[in-house]
Amino acid sequence: MDYNNILVEIDNKIALLTINREKKLNALNTETLDELFTCFSSIKTDDNVNVVVITGSGEKAFVAGADINELHEQSLLTGKIFAEKGQQVFNLIENLGKPVIAAVNGFALGGGCELALSCHIRLASTNAKFGQPEVNLGIIPGYGGTQRLTRIVGTGISLELILTGDLITADEAQRIGLVNKVIVPADLLIEAKKLAEKISSKGQIAVRAALASVLVNKEIPEREGLNFEANLFGNCCGSGDFKEGTKAFLEKRNPEFKNK
Ligand code: COA
Repeated sequence: MDYNNILVEIDNKIALLTINREKKLNALNTETLDELFTCFSSIKTDDNVNVVVITGSGEKAFVAGADINELHEQSLLTGKIFAEKGQQVFNLIENLGKPVIAAVNGFALGGGCELALSCHIRLASTNAKFGQPEVNLGIIPGYGGTQRLTRIVGTGISLELILTGDLITADEAQRIGLVNKVIVPADLLIEAKKLAEKISSKGQIAVRAALASVLVNKEIPEREGLNFEANLFGNCCGSGDFKEGTKAFLEKRNPEFKNK
């Protein structure tokens, strides 16, 4: 499918999705959000995709936020719907059922930071900058930032970022646990694809069960989470991949997973 604002390449079961509005620093207008929703909906059920990498075009920005031209038109009546639209897309990403890696190649501000937060693993280039500067525009983060940022970095740091609107460097983002790794710009996509390929080479039944079990942590109490984990562990034990993985270990060879 052809999109106006995103590029999608699928190779070796890895989907590389690039937000492609470089002149507007990849700001998320309605059309881009709609395209992301369509694209991720299709990836969700595409057996040819095991892992997704998402990045922004150009060297300057991952995504510089919601499109402020459209944002400026919102009112007391429409603002909630505007926020819910972004939340719908980012909820789809978080609940895709397959790992999504953010390769943050520059500014990740407002909705851009929230997009990265909805991904499961974040890598950043040395020139990346993160922030929730909405307070400077008289609003609060509306695409999930108050919830996801707080869960990832804790209440104190989340509030400092959201209440000041300050930007932080990639190194600082790594220090507070917002990104896993900081990489020189030239190697960012190479490293993101390597990581995606490593995950894609595992049995996808186990990968998806692990993803679901870790993500359920934020939804339910630990006792129920442990039960959820044990159930998924049991399901994995019923798979051919489990028999193959354990047999391969015992036979001192690499496993050949069939995702069955
Ligand atoms: N929405 C719409 N357009 C945006 C945008 C956004 N969030 N962020 C950047 N742009 C546009 C600029 O208007 C400019 O367009 P123009 O060339 O037609 O004038 C273009 O992208 C380049 O941005 P510019 O501001 O000139 O680049 P810069 O290097 O001087 O500054 C930033 C970069 C990221 C610091 C600055 O663009 C910025 O602060 N953006 C808004 C960040 C923000 O508040 N995001 C949260 C929104 S909820």
